[in-house]
Order: sequence, then structure tokens, then C-alpha cells
Amino acid sequence: MSQTPIKLRHLPHLRTRRLAQLGGLIRPGAHSSPLVALGKRFVADPPGFPTMLITHEMNDVREVFTNNEDFSIGQLMARLSSHDMVFGKETLIFLEGDDHRRERKLYSPPFQNKALKSYEELMIEVVERELPKWPVGEPIEFLTVGYDLAIGVLLGVVFGDVAPSRRGRLENAVSAWFHEIESRGFLAVTLATPFLGGFTPPYPPLGRAQAKVDEVIIEEITARRAAGEDGADRKDVLARYINTDLDQHDDAGLARSMRGILLGAYETTAITLGWIATMLAAHPEAMAELDAAIESGDEARLDAYLDAVVAETMRLRPVSPFTGRIAVRDTVINGVEIPEGTIVIVPILLIHESEEIYPDPLAFRPERFLDRKPDGHNWLTFGAGPHRCLGAQFALAEARILFRAIIEKRRIDPIPGPMEPARKYHTGLSPAYNARITLRHR
Ligand code: HEM
Repeated sequence: MSQTPIKLRHLPHLRTRRLAQLGGLIRPGAHSSPLVALGKRFVADPPGFPTMLITHEMNDVREVFTNNEDFSIGQLMARLSSHDMVFGKETLIFLEGDDHRRERKLYSPPFQNKALKSYEELMIEVVERELPKWPVGEPIEFLTVGYDLAIGVLLGVVFGDVAPSRRGRLENAVSAWFHEIESRGFLAVTLATPFLGGFTPPYPPLGRAQAKVDEVIIEEITARRAAGEDGADRKDVLARYINTDLDQHDDAGLARSMRGILLGAYETTAITLGWIATMLAAHPEAMAELDAAIESGDEARLDAYLDAVVAETMRLRPVSPFTGRIAVRDTVINGVEIPEGTIVIVPILLIHESEEIYPDPLAFRPERFLDRKPDGHNWLTFGAGPHRCLGAQFALAEARILFRAIIEKRRIDPIPGPMEPARKYHTGLSPAYNARITLRHR
């Protein structure tokens, strides 16, 4: 006999005066938040927002991630932020069910293992181009380095060799667009959205900046078609999309999707690179392992330890410390009744700091991931389920390849004392002092 589902009103409720404490769940040290005492699930009702269920009960988490019939990530983003305006409502994250499955199949191949090998050379070239610009023997902000590496790799991987007449315009248009997204004006619009029931007020400067990016991308698509390129000898993402079933989309739609990929990949990658450098500076024993692997000349050992460093950094400093879904109809997860419109928040960082899952959870210990890959059920930096990050494999490989190329030429000096703290950056976590480290010649 099945049990009657538990109603939200029977779960612990967070009092309004304690709402500010929610922020503690998405900062390092989340496990010591007083909210942990409320149990693995509790309900919050922030004024002006839909009811929220915050759960780190792993069976709830699994069900919410896998059920994209009753839950939507896109509608959540549209309700709480301006994502729909930035990405376009027809892009992957806003689709569900069959539409999502079909599109995801079309967009995935360039970001899967088979294709990744072909980007390695380009990634190493980007490091070789940027590395001479980084001062040696004095503190630098590695976050800036991370941004330069991330955009260099992205433009190369996504667009490949663009005609020189368009390359400069593309770079300028993308940079102006990123600038607009970061502007105070657009931030105000984004912050207002949840209080306006999910309505994002018009913000024409962003629309103009986006149109300029799309214009250059559409020009590039048109030129490639006119030149009769079949894409066979090009390895960039755009070439892989042209002349596939994605051709059924109009060029404007394809351009918007390309733009969405740039945005989804840029900041997340840059900040992650910043955190990896910060972690290595704060943990000389991990840097020493890498030094020993380099000196041994054993490439497999070096790559394995680097992969472990990347996984452990992303566990302790996931760029998105939480994710979530909104219920699009009344449903039940793991015996809890979820009315339509309820937001379910998955506190990724809190799960990553669970003693039950990761013994001595706050210790930076790459060795955890030396003999076993991160378990997709409880290592959630890229989310999980049908909407798991499209670029996860790509981002992991990229971090390893870039850092291998860097540390083969440079050492990262240890920084004594407490590690650089995190600051809130949009909904994410970024190194508070922009990842200050010192590099030395090897
Ligand atoms: C360290 C780097 C990255 C991090 C931490 C990250 C994180 C995330 C997260 C948390 C989600 C939501 C997943 C969920 O809630 O289940 C997501 C979705 C997504 N990410 Fe990433 N991401 C990264 C890099 C990239 C890259 C390189 C790309 C380029 C392809 C990308 C493209 C996407 C797309 C298209 C989605 C939506 C997928 C869908 O709805 O099916 N991301 N990412």
C-alpha cells in the first residue's frame, strides 16, 4: 500500500526573519550553517517569490533532476532572472521533453569525448600565446588569466578560423555584449525580475549588443555556405553544426544558440580556472605531486593527478553552488507532494560538504578522485539529469589541458596562511581577490 504523500506544510519552515541565512548554504562552510539543523528538507517562503523547497535528501535530488516532465529549469531561470532575455527562450535550457531531447542530440557531438581530442592543440596554442604576458615572481590575478584563456579557447573552438575581415568585429561584438551583461543597468533589470513575477523589463542596450554579435555570426554562416564548404576539414563547432540537421533551424536561431554556448561556457570556465590556481597555491602538497609527476616524465600520472585536482576544486568551489527546478504541474517526489509553481532548490555545495559522502569534507584532497571518477549522483558541479551541463566533458578536459600546458612551464608558489575566500558573484562563487598567485619559471 502506497503511503500518503507528505505535504509541504508538514515540513520544517524557515521563518521570515531567518531568510538571510539562506546565503550561508551557498558559501564555503555551508555545512556549518544553522539551517542544517532544520533537516535535509525545509520550506522557505521569501516574500514575492514562489514557495521554495530546499532539499539535500539525495533521493529527492535524484528524482528532481531526472524528472523533466514535471520540472523545468528554463522556467525557473525565467522566473528568477533575466536568462531568457540573454539566451533566447528557444535555446536548450528552456526546452523540455521530446523537444529538449531532439535538440540536445543535435548540439552534443562537438562537446563529447570523440571530438575533444581535436581541440587540444588549439588549447595548448592559446596557453603559449598568453603565457609570456604573465609576470613572473610577483603576485598576479589569475582570474584575469582565466578569462583570457577561456575566451581564447572558446572563440577558437567554436568558430575556428574566421575570415580576418570578421575576426576583429566578432571579438569586439562579443566583448561589448559581455560588457553589457555585466553593466549596472542590466544587473538592476535582472534583480527586479523575480519581484515582477518573472517579467524582465526591456533593456535595449543589451538587445543592440546581442544583435551585433548575431549579425557577424550570421555573416560567417552565410559566407561558409556560399564558399560551398562542407565542413569536412574544419573541426570548429560551427562547422560541425552547419550542414547537419541543425540546418533546419534558421541562421538567426543557430547564431543565437552559438551565442548561448559562448555565454554558458565563458565565465564558468574562467572562474573555475581561477579556483584551480587558488587551490594549488594554498595546497603546496598538491603542487608538489604535480611537480613530481612532471619530473617523472609520466604523462598519464600527470593527467590523472590533474583530473583529480580539477574534480576536487570543483567539489569545494562549484561555480554554481546551487541549482534548481520549478514544478510545472502538481507532482510528488520521493513521497513529498509538490504543488505546481513550487521551486525546488538543490544546494550543490552543501551536498559536496557532506561528511557522509566525502569524509573530512573540507579538506582539499585530490586523492579522493585518483582511483574513482566523480560520482554523478553526488558530485553535482554540472548539475544532473537531462539538463546536465552540455559542456561538462569539454570543461573538464579543457581545465586539465590548460593547466598541464601552464605548469610544464611555470610553478605556482605556495601562499601561506588562510586560503583566499569566496565572494558572491551573481549567483555564483568567485575568488574574492581575483585568485592572487605568484608564478615562477620552472
Ligand atoms: C566549469 C565550467 C562549467 C560549469 C561549472 C557549468 C555548470 C552548469 C550547470 C550547473 C548547468 C545546469 C545543470 C543543471 O541544473 O542540471 C549547466 C547547463 C548548461 N551548460 Fe554548463 N557549465 C560549465 C561549462 C559549460 C561549457 C564549456 C558549455 C559549452 C558547451 C556549457 C553549456 C551549457 C549548456 C548548453 C547548458 C544547458 C544544458 C541543457 O539544458 O540541456 N557549460 N552548466
